[in-house]
Amino acid sequence: MPCLEGKDRFILRLSLYLGASSMASVFPQELGRVIDLTVEHNTLRRSSLNLIPSENVMSPLAEAVYMCDMMHRYAEGRPRKRLYQGLRYVDEVEELVMDLMSRLFRVKYVEPRPISGTIANAATFRALSQPGGKAVVAPVQAGAHVSHTRFGTLGALGIEHIEMPFDMESINIDVDRARKVIEEVRPSFIVMGGSMYIFPHPIKEIAETAHSVGSVVVYDAAHVLGLIAGRRWRDPFEAGADVVTASTHKTFPGPQGGVILTNNESIYKSIARTIFPWFVSNHHLHRLPATAVTALEMIHFGESYADQIVRNSRAFAEALASEGFKVLGEHLGYTRSHQVVIDVRNNGGGAKAAQLLEEANIIVNKNLLPYDPPGAVRDPSGIRTGVQEMTRLGMKEDDFREVATLFRMILIEGRDPAEVRKKAIDLRSRFTSVRYTFEIDLSSVPSPYGIPFLSKI
Ligand SMILES: Cc1ncc(COP(=O)(O)O)c(C=O)c1O
Repeated sequence: MPCLEGKDRFILRLSLYLGASSMASVFPQELGRVIDLTVEHNTLRRSSLNLIPSENVMSPLAEAVYMCDMMHRYAEGRPRKRLYQGLRYVDEVEELVMDLMSRLFRVKYVEPRPISGTIANAATFRALSQPGGKAVVAPVQAGAHVSHTRFGTLGALGIEHIEMPFDMESINIDVDRARKVIEEVRPSFIVMGGSMYIFPHPIKEIAETAHSVGSVVVYDAAHVLGLIAGRRWRDPFEAGADVVTASTHKTFPGPQGGVILTNNESIYKSIARTIFPWFVSNHHLHRLPATAVTALEMIHFGESYADQIVRNSRAFAEALASEGFKVLGEHLGYTRSHQVVIDVRNNGGGAKAAQLLEEANIIVNKNLLPYDPPGAVRDPSGIRTGVQEMTRLGMKEDDFREVATLFRMILIEGRDPAEVRKKAIDLRSRFTSVRYTFEIDLSSVPSPYGIPFLSKI
């Protein structure tokens, strides 16, 4: 990977760049600390089994174009209609992102400027409702993100949050009761899609009712955008969604950022007006070439990547269950996404389990389960895992079975995490390069940023 790999190499690069042979005598002590912390972080995450479902890694190629001068620039406005100069190449890259994302998701209009999934939601919600309006949203137990709620972005916009009822048996929205709520409330818009998300929400069933009362259906695909790109998750537009919002860095393995997709021209135009000037001024332009590279990777390799993700998550869930864990959704096949959710009440609880796993270089989220009280957020009953990042690095079903045995050693057998850490590091060391990308020797690519060490990535 092009980022820092080892302390010596990085210091050598940095001192080359700064034109100094000895850092210590010339530079403040804190500079060394910053470098140490950065290198230590990289070393930790590159020797860990990273299983947080909202994260991923970019390819070296995407990272290479990300490290470019665009990160210093402003481009308020739309391509070719900017309020700033010096943007002829940025305009073209932004148009390319729109074109590639439009091909990938078979959608007419792409708004690439939100700098995160939360900003994509904020701009969309505000375009669809005035403060004082109403939104009916998926229940938090079905995985809704905080930005869909009165505690997050929806609340900040002054839009009333009305929850669809939840069905514990299907771990999903209760369709019949949700339809009644929508008919009664007649909201400006409905939100589906989630953060703890093992089974697809019933977009088609809800969209029929929503449209019959004039509501717009927003589908938040932050977690599953890469699965949709790879055709292993239902196309939300085919199911009836009017707008899709997403992050570009979870199963879609691009730079941290957001995107909004729609086929509706008037919705697109009003969202574009809320993006700028309301929610985004500088849209962090270096995201654009990296997003374009990732979109190309997904066009060419997305299906095999997404296919391996769903195979891996199923295999991981089954292996954890046969190791003795209580995995959510057993009667429904455990999972259809990249996520596997485990009830760890018998294994010390969510906070303790996540901590013990981290001590063994296995990084997961503690997470509320559908039957937890909302106040249990600091020590919930569950942990949430995602296979997408380690799949991108090449892990297959058998490798995830091996990960499940490490979970057993730590959380069921109570072995010392320090002892298990060696096994985790050893397993991780077999998966160090990004797959599902173009094989290009980056040493022959001129540095886009013009700094010597970056041309040697
Ligand atoms: C469903 C969902 N929507 C939106 C977001 C927010 O995305 P971001 O972190 O890019 O702001 C998340 C974050 O995890 C999410 O899970």
